[in-house]
Amino acid sequence: MTQDELKKRVAEAALQYVVDNTVIGVGSGSTVNFFIDALASIKGRIEGTVAASEASAERLRKHGIRVFDLNAVAEVPVYVDGADEVTENLHMVKGGGGALTREKILAAVAGSFVCICDASKLVPVLGRFPLPVEVIPMARSHVGREMVRRKAQPVLRENYRTDNGNLILDCWGLAIVDPPALEAELNDIAGVVTNGIFARRGADVLLLGGDNGVRTLLKEGFRGSIR
Ligand code: 5RP
Repeated sequence: MTQDELKKRVAEAALQYVVDNTVIGVGSGSTVNFFIDALASIKGRIEGTVAASEASAERLRKHGIRVFDLNAVAEVPVYVDGADEVTENLHMVKGGGGALTREKILAAVAGSFVCICDASKLVPVLGRFPLPVEVIPMARSHVGREMVRRKAQPVLRENYRTDNGNLILDCWGLAIVDPPALEAELNDIAGVVTNGIFARRGADVLLLGGDNGVRTLLKEGFRGSIR
């Protein structure tokens, strides 16, 4: 199967986690685009969505799916999103598409986080994918120096602004052996909006699309139900 076929397969598998008559959190990226297309087939069963990026919101609206402002929504029982890297204990690196801050907000709000990936995203240790760090523009150099001090090589994402009007530093060369600790440490640097480690609030469910089907990994103690 091609990578796109694997993404489509895993995106369709995520439909079983959609809770009827609720607002669904929708992430961002090419795997999520397949999820949005699949969600369109059951749009009559949901109240609507909140989206982690303008691009996802536009795609949802094109399918006739309602998109709410997060502030207008009381709860988001399920959030579905992709990842750039994920480990077996459901820590992730995200933000390849630049939507990491809104994705982290949705992850924080959601009852359950369902991560959808093709099997190539599973890694033993996070960090081969350059870690995206969203930065307030005036702090670009300061944050860059702080990342160099931590043995990373930061590269400014060229001609790019996030949906929040900020910059992204893609930070190469980090071996992220303690994801929750590094996530907190980097978020503490003045000028960092957030970084792409999703470990303090990781996924609850990981759906991994491979040639032999979809493998499901659950966070220890996860008690969510599927339809
Ligand atoms: C965007 C993200 C995406 O989830 C991540 O980049 C994966 O994207 P894709 O499904 O295209 O591989 O974090 O900010």
